Amino acid sequence: MKYILVAGARPNFMKVAPIMEAFRVREQGQVLLVHTGQHYDDKMSDNFFADLQIPKPDLNLGVGSGSHAQQTAQVMIGFEEVCIENRPDWVIVVGDVNSTLACALAAKKLGICVAHVEAGLRSTDMSMPEEINRLCTDAISDLLFTTDKMADENLRREGVSEERIHFVGNTMIDTLLRNIDKALSMPLPAELKAREYAVLTLHRPSNVDSKPKLTALVEALIEISRLIPIVFPTHPRTRYNLQQFGLEDTLRDSQIKLIGPLSYLPFIGLTARSRLVLTDSGGIQEETTVLGIPCITMRSNTERPITCTMGTNILVGNEPERIRSAVFAALNASSRKNTLPEKWDGNAAMRIVDVLLADPTALSELTQKNALPEKWNGDTPVQIVEVVLNEHSISS
Ligand code: UD1
Repeated sequence: MKYILVAGARPNFMKVAPIMEAFRVREQGQVLLVHTGQHYDDKMSDNFFADLQIPKPDLNLGVGSGSHAQQTAQVMIGFEEVCIENRPDWVIVVGDVNSTLACALAAKKLGICVAHVEAGLRSTDMSMPEEINRLCTDAISDLLFTTDKMADENLRREGVSEERIHFVGNTMIDTLLRNIDKALSMPLPAELKAREYAVLTLHRPSNVDSKPKLTALVEALIEISRLIPIVFPTHPRTRYNLQQFGLEDTLRDSQIKLIGPLSYLPFIGLTARSRLVLTDSGGIQEETTVLGIPCITMRSNTERPITCTMGTNILVGNEPERIRSAVFAALNASSRKNTLPEKWDGNAAMRIVDVLLADPTALSELTQKNALPEKWNGDTPVQIVEVVLNEHSISS
């Protein structure tokens, strides 16, 4: 059997690494690694391949940046060609970035089976591009690999049949557990002492694309940095907006230390030795849960609620007052209890690969099993006309 595994943007790389490794260990299946090139800088891409010892991608589509439609379309065009030339039996996509949806769509329309890793996460916030990507990818994927049982429930609620859902655990945590010792041996940036600083990451469009919102956040964070120094590995989108909105100089005079995006090992090493984390990322909510580091998430919702119920995560939105009080509370608490979610044990990728290798022929028939939906009985035009006429008579 032939598989194409897709990696596109920074949060994908730690998810594909253990899947590549699991295929290598099982010594079965022919796997092609395709990088879409959505993220292309050394700091956002190549350094992760080096840190995580991911083999060089077999193909790179080199799509780069653009609007959502441009980026998604470019990936679809490039990936369709790759699928036509290579004719895989399965395409495996991970996470929720534009590349995830684009490759799932292109493959599915060519009749190729699609497996989605990290399926079923829902923030219910349709203003997040990632939520649209999650919903659409899950809707067309043949196999849905989930990180927790809440995700299974979300999928069932959307009518997904049991045989498509596989609760396997979290590939991002496979990577964390595999690399934590190496990460802890990385030096901390100068002047930082373990447990005496906070880590900040910020890149969601809802937080960084509006000048008033980003200004209010920066002011609150500067105030917080008087209590505990903050180190801020800055995402390119955020760095650009800080410059555009004239906020970089304000930050430079504060106790917030701006550094460029870090690669995987230095970032995990920094996070694991911090006192607390302030973030709007998805994956960091999960990593801090496993590391037992208090996580203050500057969003009003999360697609990963298990990190709040079992882990160290709390949601505070982007209101400065709520962020400040959460930080005060975290600094004054002795410690926050965390429990490891089920199957976040380092073996998720192996479970995924074992499902895929188990009985691919039976699996590829999954999509053909369809029951006839209610009211698909030939009466649709009559019903539509009746509803429209009824509306008309009500409004007149
Ligand atoms: C993307 C993902 C998001 C993920 C995030 C992690 C989507 C919809 N969003 O958001 O889910 O959490 O990655 O980083 O897919 N840029 C560079 N160098 C790069 C890549 C991007 O400078 O290597 C710049 C681009 O020019 C662009 C900005 O960063 O202006 C944003 O990049 P983009 O991939 O569009 O979205 P992210 O905000 O990174």
